[in-house]
Amino acid sequence: MCGIIGYIGKRQAASILMEGLTRMEYRGYDSAGLVVIDKNRAKFFKEKGRVAALKGKIAGQDLSGSLGIAHTRWATHGEPSERNAHPQCDCQGKIFVVHNGIIENYQALKDQLIQEGHKFASDTDTEVLAHLIEKQVTSDKEQVTSLAQAVREALKKITGAYGIAVVSSDDPDHIVAARFGSPLVLGIGQDELVIASDLTAILPLTSKVVYLDDGEMVTLNREKYTITDLENREKNHQAQNIDWTMEAAEKGGYEHFMLKEIMEQPQAVVNSIRGRLVEKEGTVKLGGLERANGRLNDLDRLVIVGMGTARNAGLVGEYMLEEYAGLPVEVEYASEFAYRKPLLTASTAVLAISQSGETADTIMALKEAKRKGILTLGIINVTGSTVARENDAGVYNHIGPEIAVASTKAFVSQVVILSLLSVYFGRRKDMSLVTGQRIINELEDLPEKIDCILDIAETIKPIAEKYKSAKHFFFLGRKYNFPVALEGALKLKEIAYVHAEGYNGAELKHGPIAMLDENFPVVIIIPTDSVYEKNINHIKEIKARGARVIAVATEGNEEIKKLVDDVIYIPKTLEMLTPILSVIPLQLFAYYMAVARGCDVDKPRNLAKSVTVE
Ligand code: AGP
Repeated sequence: MCGIIGYIGKRQAASILMEGLTRMEYRGYDSAGLVVIDKNRAKFFKEKGRVAALKGKIAGQDLSGSLGIAHTRWATHGEPSERNAHPQCDCQGKIFVVHNGIIENYQALKDQLIQEGHKFASDTDTEVLAHLIEKQVTSDKEQVTSLAQAVREALKKITGAYGIAVVSSDDPDHIVAARFGSPLVLGIGQDELVIASDLTAILPLTSKVVYLDDGEMVTLNREKYTITDLENREKNHQAQNIDWTMEAAEKGGYEHFMLKEIMEQPQAVVNSIRGRLVEKEGTVKLGGLERANGRLNDLDRLVIVGMGTARNAGLVGEYMLEEYAGLPVEVEYASEFAYRKPLLTASTAVLAISQSGETADTIMALKEAKRKGILTLGIINVTGSTVARENDAGVYNHIGPEIAVASTKAFVSQVVILSLLSVYFGRRKDMSLVTGQRIINELEDLPEKIDCILDIAETIKPIAEKYKSAKHFFFLGRKYNFPVALEGALKLKEIAYVHAEGYNGAELKHGPIAMLDENFPVVIIIPTDSVYEKNINHIKEIKARGARVIAVATEGNEEIKKLVDDVIYIPKTLEMLTPILSVIPLQLFAYYMAVARGCDVDKPRNLAKSVTVE
């Protein structure tokens, strides 16, 4: 997600702001900018690309001033560019806003502001805030609205998530910041204050911090800070002393990015469904598909392409879309699709799934489909990436950067978005209102159910340690959880360097079972679902060969304990959504196995986060 920093104090702001941006680079971003207010002058620079590019741009410029804000942007609305970089400002170039989050109702607000004569300079949702604040400040000529009051009133008009900082050249002694759904921390230094989205930007200045809560805002001046809610009721928070190292701060206190991103999965689901559920109609709205609307109505076949984890998510989508949307689907390795002779018709669409949006195999497949005039769709996390730009229409994950090489929260988000597509297409066909509502309600319950699994994460650690000397594993799943077996095996291979193969449970007796003995453990995903009894049979076949079995089962299932060696429980959910829960114990199992084996969890050998070569 974006990085925010604001400074007011005894020192020059520019160097402190730039140092803060540098410390937040690890978060992933695509552009950067800053504004310094000096008396009533605003000195404002921004640039696409790295912080170094911004540094080059401000070299030699007069950036004197002891108050300012700065930002590294992770694009959500509006592709990476200088014009879409933050700060975003109002018509007069006096009010500057940096923002982390998503304003869901920005389009309606923007349309209204344009009608009222406001001129927009970017494609971002954030710019709407600058104009709303401007409108408040200028609305009542007699009463000079304070910057804080103008921000308060503007925030009441938006829905969505925000962490913001605001300054104005008409008010050179205040910074106003506010949060709802995106983090903001206040650093309290000696005669200086710093506000940031991330501890890494604060720790070099002070270890004394105050965390803001959702719905709160803080006004900083040169003497003090005041925290209120949006009704201007004062709030008091106890300052805390943080003794983290910089590295620990980057990982939010977790030992590895992978663990941090596993723990972020409840929020990843929230971000993936935010603003997309239309519960009363039992359907979903996916704005990014509107560009292809006319062609989606005639869709009679979908080919899903991706690599690795993205393809595994696509395999879950195949079951979903066939069962709930009656849509024939086939899932292809993108690398195969690009070089085989796929039989496509005008009513076929190709859906590319890619977290990075830069996987060469997937880009090749997408270009091949476009060359044939086929409608191309995408599920992508990185805004403005090649896959995002190449496809005709798509859906963003909105889960912020995924730093660890091993993909975790992206898989969960991809499966969530595939379930949204199942409702989207299903409700255009014969999916009932009730079924649509049932899926939507269950999606809304998922973050809490994921939390239940994460709460017992530590119990998986001894299980991983118990099996850490095993050289081989099978991962088994049926139906919706067959792709999860593939994903669990991939995780163990790529971060713990342990050989593991994922199979459809029934396939075992067609050969692989010959491998089993007491040194060849098997992980089986066995939720209480339509193929539960089949999985019980597989367990009996496996135990008869002396192999140990670890089961991922639905909580409350006592029977399973008598049949296997270890059980990891997950909450009950709709069968089609179990992959979002059943994958999490497997991610944690692989993580703890890698730690037990002393592997470099975030940067496993031989691997890159994005495979940009074929
Ligand atoms: C998954 O943990 C791996 N990092 C890898 O398989 C990855 O999923 C694959 O390279 C696809 O990446 P993409 O989603 O960025 O296209």
